[in-house]
Amino acid sequence: MAVTGLLLLGFVIAHLLGNLCVFGGPDLLNSYAYHLEGLGPLLWAARLGLLILVLLHITTAVQLVLENRKARPVPYQRYKPVETTYAARTMAASGVIVLAFIVYHLLHFTFRVTHPDISHGLDPHGHRDVYRMVVLSFGDPRVAGGYVFAMALLCLHLSHGFKSLFQSMGWNSIRLEPKLAGISRLLALLIFIGYSSIPLAVLLGFVKPAGALS
Ligand code: HEM
Repeated sequence: MAVTGLLLLGFVIAHLLGNLCVFGGPDLLNSYAYHLEGLGPLLWAARLGLLILVLLHITTAVQLVLENRKARPVPYQRYKPVETTYAARTMAASGVIVLAFIVYHLLHFTFRVTHPDISHGLDPHGHRDVYRMVVLSFGDPRVAGGYVFAMALLCLHLSHGFKSLFQSMGWNSIRLEPKLAGISRLLALLIFIGYSSIPLAVLLGFVKPAGALS
């Protein structure tokens, strides 16, 4: 679970850096997407790897939940958590919602079936107009709000996940624990700000559709 989580976190950071190209305008984002597509078989290998990582992460999560249940067959009469955090207690719920987000997100931006009217255009260079698709999508406050909500849950999930991967790998200690907790929270916050800045910048008019740029 820790290893797959760490590799997935690597993807989340790399994907964020790529998406931030939206702030550089249509040419930058569209040429980034074009070059990514140009990787051909390498891109397909990465996609397959990502799919395997997600499936392994889910399988180990289900195993963990079942083991935890088996370890405590009789539920607490009165549950008053002392040592745990909200993020830790809601890992399964935040994980399921992030998974639902990923399914929606793939239908939205990869398979382009949720907004077909704005998702299939080409830019003046003949590249797929990813910029137009992203910016017009987030012009709808329901879509932008849904993304910000999903990013908040993703980061709640990461704020506990990153810290606990050190625990699982045996890299934690009493001395390191508070530092790791702080680094985890900071990393999750930075990822939240980075991703949410995209729908919010569109919604607030800082990032505009290409025709409205001049
Ligand atoms: C504001 C937030 C986000 C934006 C604007 C965004 C944007 C995009 C875009 C434009 C694509 C399609 C790229 C293309 O076809 O060229 C894409 C694909 C994808 N996104 Fe995101 N994304 C966001 C958040 C996330 C998050 C948080 C995750 C994972 C937790 C994620 C996972 C993926 C995956 C797995 C793909 C498919 C990659 C592929 O087919 O190669 N995205 N995203």
